[in-house]
Amino acid sequence: MTRYVAAIDQGTTSTRCILFDPAGAVVASAQEEHRQLFPRAGWVEHDPVEIWTNTREVVGLALARANAVAGDLAAVGLTNQRETAVVWDRHTGEPVYNAIVWQDTRTDAICQQLGELGGGADRYKDRTGLPLATYFAGPKVTWVLDNVDGARERAERGDLLMGTIDSWLLWNLTGGPDGGLHLTDVTNASRTLLMDLHTLQWDESIAGDLRIPTSMLPEIRSNSEVYGEGRKAGALAGVPVAGSLGDQQAATFGQVCFTPGTAKNTYGTGNFLLLNTGETAVRSENGLLTTVCYRLGEEQPVYALEGSIAVTGSLVQWLRDNLRVIGGAGEIEAVARSVEDNGGAYFVPAFSGLFAPHWRSDARGALVGLTRYVDRGHLARAVLESTAYQTREVVEAMDADSGVPLRELRVDGGMVVNELLMQFQADVLGVDVVRPRIAETTALGAAYAAGLAVGFWSGLDELTAQWAEDRRWTPSMPVEQRERYYRKWQKAVARTLDWVD
Ligand code: G3P
Repeated sequence: MTRYVAAIDQGTTSTRCILFDPAGAVVASAQEEHRQLFPRAGWVEHDPVEIWTNTREVVGLALARANAVAGDLAAVGLTNQRETAVVWDRHTGEPVYNAIVWQDTRTDAICQQLGELGGGADRYKDRTGLPLATYFAGPKVTWVLDNVDGARERAERGDLLMGTIDSWLLWNLTGGPDGGLHLTDVTNASRTLLMDLHTLQWDESIAGDLRIPTSMLPEIRSNSEVYGEGRKAGALAGVPVAGSLGDQQAATFGQVCFTPGTAKNTYGTGNFLLLNTGETAVRSENGLLTTVCYRLGEEQPVYALEGSIAVTGSLVQWLRDNLRVIGGAGEIEAVARSVEDNGGAYFVPAFSGLFAPHWRSDARGALVGLTRYVDRGHLARAVLESTAYQTREVVEAMDADSGVPLRELRVDGGMVVNELLMQFQADVLGVDVVRPRIAETTALGAAYAAGLAVGFWSGLDELTAQWAEDRRWTPSMPVEQRERYYRKWQKAVARTLDWVD
């Protein structure tokens, strides 16, 4: 009898494996961090081999903690940091270069040049739903082929494969050089700048512009179907690998946003707000992305509008690691509570340029409004508040694009344990903020997708019934004060633009 579904959540800072029971409750979990490599200003890399090693370790650990073996698992689902690109050798399994992470800005010149072919930043927007920006995976592969010795020749000979982290892990999980499956799913593919959002197939003319041989591209599949099974030698031997989706889409699925108009906001290293728009791919006029939300087997795809913010939780880490203002991320709330307000300080963390709704790769971070009065408490406040203000920018864009104001915001992710931030978020938005009882929505979404494919769960109604509210924050700040604060924030944002020559 299978008892559980496992989810592997390969995120920007760590890899986790969580086992869920039929009620969607966490049975056991394991987590391992990997190194963040910053070889130059603006560059961010991960070692794909380290990520694969950590994946195997956390799977083994989670199984051991649950006293379970592969035979106890009905399926395994996968979810991952999106847009991070890997190029590897199909014969040896060796990556030709580190994974280039979604936050990395090195492809700025490549993106500029593509825009100059005609159409500017919106050159591929109708086909892919995306602006030309350093965030997306395709140009990162172009960079590898252009800059790693011999890579282009090897790619043209058919020796190299490319993929986002899901593809890299799926290929390894299902056998690697010994018959590993080279696949990706519609959500991850929709973040490459290479997939046509309407046909859900690779657009060969864009691949041509990016000079990426199509032989490198994985096959695009749905989010919920049996792709294959765990390789013989692994801890998941014989377990159906049956779900895969990018982590933000997985969180949307885990928050059971199955009907048009439902939305969630995840507070991770960055923030990602996704609004389900049903079977219509809505073109954004306000700086949001159009993306695939999910596709279950052969069913019609469901689309989403997305507001992606590059730096939120990672700013707290930066405060800890680079400035050493706090000893641990959990300390920030107490430090912020030592003062009444931000003391006039505003922090715009444009470390990777600004993503939604600005899409300005020429922006860089700024801390403004300083006087000698400002101390570490104010700084901690400014850091937390920047997450809430950036979210408001995205919510305003979402309201404008959809024509329907958001009535409440479902939240999840690491930062939602921060009461001060959540209250401030409700205040700055003027709507309720709601946290579900199962906070592990990303892994849960991947488990749901995999479990649906093998009949572990009966359908979306059963999943919807599992969602339960845990905590609600209601706005209490006077409207005049909220608007005054927000105008200051907008002035601070204006100071960060045009910084890079
Ligand atoms: O688009 C990037 C996003 O998928 C990263 O998510 O949770 O790893 O910060 P996270």
